[in-house]
Amino acid sequence: MTDLVVRRLLVDMQAPIARHWCAGDAFRTALFNALSMSFPVGEQFFMDSVRNGFKALPPELQEKFRAEVQGFVGQEATHRRLHSLYNAHLEKLGLVNDWDARARERLKVLQGQDVRHWVAITAANEHFTAILADFLLQHPDLLGDQDPRLVTLWLWHSAEESEHKCTAFDLYRALGGDHEWRIRWMKRITTIFLFDTLRQTVLNLKRDGTLWKWSTWRGAALYLFGRRGLVRLTYGPWREYFRRDFHPSQQDSAASRRWLAEHASEYVPVTA
Ligand SMILES: [Fe+2]
Ligand SMILES: [Fe+2]
Repeated sequence: MTDLVVRRLLVDMQAPIARHWCAGDAFRTALFNALSMSFPVGEQFFMDSVRNGFKALPPELQEKFRAEVQGFVGQEATHRRLHSLYNAHLEKLGLVNDWDARARERLKVLQGQDVRHWVAITAANEHFTAILADFLLQHPDLLGDQDPRLVTLWLWHSAEESEHKCTAFDLYRALGGDHEWRIRWMKRITTIFLFDTLRQTVLNLKRDGTLWKWSTWRGAALYLFGRRGLVRLTYGPWREYFRRDFHPSQQDSAASRRWLAEHASEYVPVTA
């Protein structure tokens, strides 16, 4: 079991967000903004899944998971709150969150379904977040230095995602979830996640008026497929999830621990 600390981040979310806050790059900004737009609905679903999964455990296993589930929910709730403030600024910039409503609609089909489906979906999404988080923590300079507050926000969120990457996975196993369904959900979530991310990123660029600029496409190609490209570097870690003996703890979390240790002045641990 992992000891999960809930941290209150010392950032000012009142100040407005600049149009191209991420290294002055239109594509990268649109992509991160798109991800931020997915968090309020996504992280609420992860919290609900993990809470409901926990309730479905036999009492002896509940004891084993209690503290970790509490930490997980506390961390996701904090992420959700800060990203809601972040998203309010995006709205003021004229961006429209299309992802949120579509995800809410899609999640309706899960009502009344076996909780293991919920937890498997959460575990698949958490794998995505964990590998993206590690990528970001390894290459923090890609966030630029225009808005140090947002750099801190993204790296703190990444560090905690990496920290709690085992929770949903372990819960799924404790609930008797099998390998086949875990894989089936990962395949579906991959398609849905990539499509939704792309769709919202394109929408953000359209609203921003930069979709058809050569510099946007060049930035996208570099960021996704360049030497330090996101797709290039996360494809291997993503694929590992399909191994029968995979466990999230097999993937390194050193970058997360390092960031949390080196930036202790930027947050306050919250005691329960
Ligand atoms: Fe999160
Ligand atoms: Fe998470």
